[in-house]
Amino acid sequence: MSSDTYYASGNEVQLFEQAYTRKIPVMLTGPTGCGKTRFVEHMGSLLGRPVVTISCHDDLTSSDLVGRFMVTGGDVIWTDGPLTRAVKNGAICYLDEVVEARHDSLAILHSLTDHRRTLYLDRSDEIVQAPDEFMVVCSYNPAYRSSLKELKPSFRQRFVTLPMGYLPPEQEAAAVVSETGIDLAAAQRLVQCAIAIRTADEAFHFEPPSTRVLVTAAQLIAAGAGELEAAEACILAPLSTDGAISEGLREVAAAGLLTSDTL
Ligand SMILES: Nc1ncnc2c1ncn2[C@@H]1O[C@H](COP(=O)(O)OP(=O)(O)OP(=O)(O)O)[C@@H](O)[C@H]1O
Ligand SMILES: [Mg+2]
Repeated sequence: MSSDTYYASGNEVQLFEQAYTRKIPVMLTGPTGCGKTRFVEHMGSLLGRPVVTISCHDDLTSSDLVGRFMVTGGDVIWTDGPLTRAVKNGAICYLDEVVEARHDSLAILHSLTDHRRTLYLDRSDEIVQAPDEFMVVCSYNPAYRSSLKELKPSFRQRFVTLPMGYLPPEQEAAAVVSETGIDLAAAQRLVQCAIAIRTADEAFHFEPPSTRVLVTAAQLIAAGAGELEAAEACILAPLSTDGAISEGLREVAAAGLLTSDTL
């Protein structure tokens, strides 16, 4: 149950390593709970690099990223932000939900994510050359993207883009077992339940249930909950904000749970 156990779904580990070796930044895309954050943590430990995570949002400024002058005990001193610290420490800087950040805040990344690999800190009059170990990784969920929040092509084209999806059924069940310690057969039933919902006619109405919710359901089962009640609370109920889950979908989910070991 290590927090960096990662089940690969394809060649993403190799491509990430190759990008790291050639100093190219990586962009991960995929639905919520499909393993983007877990993948970055895993690659950090595989490559022996610390991961500095920055959660992007509307109000994030370039000063939040690079740092600012701060008044401390009467003195005004420059304090590095998380991006500058990550560059100096040769870390993997992980910008989560990068589409949420404004274009002017992301512009600071341009010189870091091309052949220059340099951070220009105008305010502190400093130029920071990234060490070979430094890497930028970004991620976002394409389903949340609105037309107002498009990444610029000049940004997107700097990255190796790895689209991520849900694991194949056997690996997804193995991940649920390794995260929670429940029986393989029970994990397989949860995966069947998720697949039944992901492939249901109504699936286009909502973001499908992810590996994350299967792990949460399995945690409740490991703590003594019944499979149906765990599936209801963790897999079905979070599908919609208003809790309106159709009876049809509930039946699809229950039928998935009842199909035994047919992965
Ligand atoms: N490939 C995988 N291997 C092992 N565990 C996984 C994998 N994918 C998902 N998980 C499990 O699902 C959980 C959620 O995954 P993670 O936090 O990486 O999702 P995410 O894609 O970053 O989602 P979000 O977009 O909401 O941040 C993990 O904590 C882990 O338990
Ligand atoms: Mg994440």
